[in-house]
Amino acid sequence: MHRMKLLTRYASRFEIAATARPSIFLAAAGALCLWFSAAASVHAFPWSTDMFEGAAVQPLAVAPRVMPQGTLPINGIQKMDLEQMTLGMKNPLKETPENLAHGKELFMNICLPCHGENADGNGPVAHLLQHKPTNLRTGVSKNLPDGYIYGYIRNGGIWMPSYADAMSSDERWDVIMYVRSVQAKAAEEEKKVSSR
Ligand code: HEC
Repeated sequence: MHRMKLLTRYASRFEIAATARPSIFLAAAGALCLWFSAAASVHAFPWSTDMFEGAAVQPLAVAPRVMPQGTLPINGIQKMDLEQMTLGMKNPLKETPENLAHGKELFMNICLPCHGENADGNGPVAHLLQHKPTNLRTGVSKNLPDGYIYGYIRNGGIWMPSYADAMSSDERWDVIMYVRSVQAKAAEEEKKVSSR
């Protein structure tokens, strides 16, 4: 008897489920149709074939993109540490009036605030710094290799910030060329003074 009760309960439950089923199915089918018709009006459908039908850009079929403004060419020079640059890098540029003038302009814009207008280390913001900028005009700085100064501009120093993003490698060499010309002039002035 107990078993019978259970069976009838089970059957009645099934009946409810069976009558509910077609309407659930219809609702689901309706939703699916709606979704398909909406998707068909969107061009992305069927997305699974997009990659076959889209235009295929072949290698070198289009000219390389122009560098965005403000980006710096690295001229094939890989990242190096100060020692590598000191030992391995020499100024590849000729000392032309244009290069010198460009170097001067860059020095006046970027280095002057700290190192001073005549590179003696007394720039207008030098008094704000915890550590004094180096005198690049006279003294031991004259003996610094070009590659070392290049590396200092590129990577920065203990206190000096890196100016890697401020100028291209050619521009760094232009600045170094200008610093050398300032040092040469300062040395000549010293000679004149001492021979008086
Ligand atoms: C924000 C201030 C600041 C600016 C701008 C700056 N420097 Fe310096 N520079 C310093 C300070 C401070 C030192 C010394 C301490 C150190 O080693 O960082 C220094 C040191 C140097 C040295 C190392 C000298 C040595 O004896 O080792 C070189 C070379 C140099 N600067 C070149 C330049 C050049 C070239 C520029 C412009 C492209 C420049 N600096 C811009 C602050 C500056």
